[in-house]
Order: sequence, then C-alpha cells, then structure tokens
Amino acid sequence: MIKIAPSILSANFAKLGEEIDSIREGGADWLHIDVMDGQFVPNISVGIPVLKSVRAYTSMFLDVHLMIDRPLRYAEQFAKAGADLVNVHIEADSEDNTMTALSGIRALGKKSGITLKPMTPFEAVFPYLELTDLILVMTVEPGFGGQSFMADMMPKVRALRSLIDSRGLECLIEVDGGINPMTASAAVAAGADVLVAGSDVFGAADRKLRIAQLRG
Ligand code: DX5
Ligand code: ZN
Repeated sequence: MIKIAPSILSANFAKLGEEIDSIREGGADWLHIDVMDGQFVPNISVGIPVLKSVRAYTSMFLDVHLMIDRPLRYAEQFAKAGADLVNVHIEADSEDNTMTALSGIRALGKKSGITLKPMTPFEAVFPYLELTDLILVMTVEPGFGGQSFMADMMPKVRALRSLIDSRGLECLIEVDGGINPMTASAAVAAGADVLVAGSDVFGAADRKLRIAQLRG
C-alpha cells in the first residue's frame, strides 16, 4: 500500500492545525515536516518548537526531513520533540557522523531515514543499509516547494528497489519533490513506497480527492 505524506511546507502556517486536520481527514498517511537551516539549503523553514506543537496536536506519523548541515547536532532533539521518523541528508556530514546520527535516532525508538540529493548516486547508501528504515530520493533540489519533478531520478529509485528486494531488507523508499498524480504513478512504477507532496495537495481545492488521485 502506497503511503501519501503531504508536506506542511506548502500549508498555511497561520492555521496549521486546520491544515493538518484537512489532510488527515482526506486520508493522508504521514505528515512530512521540512526543516531547513539556510545553510545546507538556501531557505529557512520550521524547527523544533513547531514540531513540538504539531506533535501535541496530532497522532499522525510525523516524517521529519532535516535539510540541515551536520544533522548529528540536532537529530536526537528532533526525535525527542516528537518525530516518528528522522531523515538526515547523506551529503550533510561525514560517514561516521551520519552513522552515529542514524543509530542515535533508532536508540530513541524512532525510525531513521537517509536522504539523497539529485546528484548523489544510489551507491552512496551502501554504508547505511543496516542502519536505515527508509531511503528518501529527492526528485527536486531540496530547498523549495513547487519545483518540477526530475524524471531522471527514476533509474535511481529502480536501482534502490532492486537492491532492497535482492537483500530482503525492510527499508522503504520515499520520493520528495514535484509529485502530482502523473509523476506519482511514475515514482510508484519505479518502486517508491511513500510519496511526499506539498504544493499539489495543499493547492488542491479538494484535498481528499487529490490524495486519492496520488494513491492511484
Ligand atoms: C523540498 C522539500 C519538499 C517540498 C515538496 O526541499 O523537501 O518536501 O515541500 O514540495 P512540492 O511537493 O511542492 O514539490
Ligand atoms: Zn521534504
């Protein structure tokens, strides 16, 4: 079953509770929270206080995407603040520190995720396969909502799908960026399990219908 994870980056933050209700009632599976530090990506979004408020508001599965430099510094704080899954970027620190961050997230009983920017090849995940519950393939350059889907990331998704299946791993594949009903079906055909969609869901007049369309 494909999971749909609307990204609050495209929500109206002045009425975030209502926005969360609308996508939960619309059948969304996870809530995707984009954290940007103005350093790893050229944009700043939300952080720990917003995550804590969202955690207190909803029981939805909170999928936190850390687009921050050296995420080891904060990964455990996000896990403790209420994330169910914490994604760290593979490009944001050394291999040792990334491994420590993933282990620390799991030690707190949370799911760990590793994220790849478009230029990062699928082979970069090899050191982390035993430490990660999810691999997030970026289908846009991280930093902004509303960009166009990079269809040339589909071979990477397919390569990860066969790697995971051939090794019998439980790891999920998530895609993020430019997802709409058309690109969603391409991502699912390539092997994605979780679809992040920001502008497409929050910009839809009927969010429930749009979430159903994304699920295919
Ligand atoms: C981009 C973020 C995405 C973004 C997706 O850096 O990681 O989660 O919100 O937005 P859309 O779906 O509009 O491309
Ligand atoms: Zn994201």
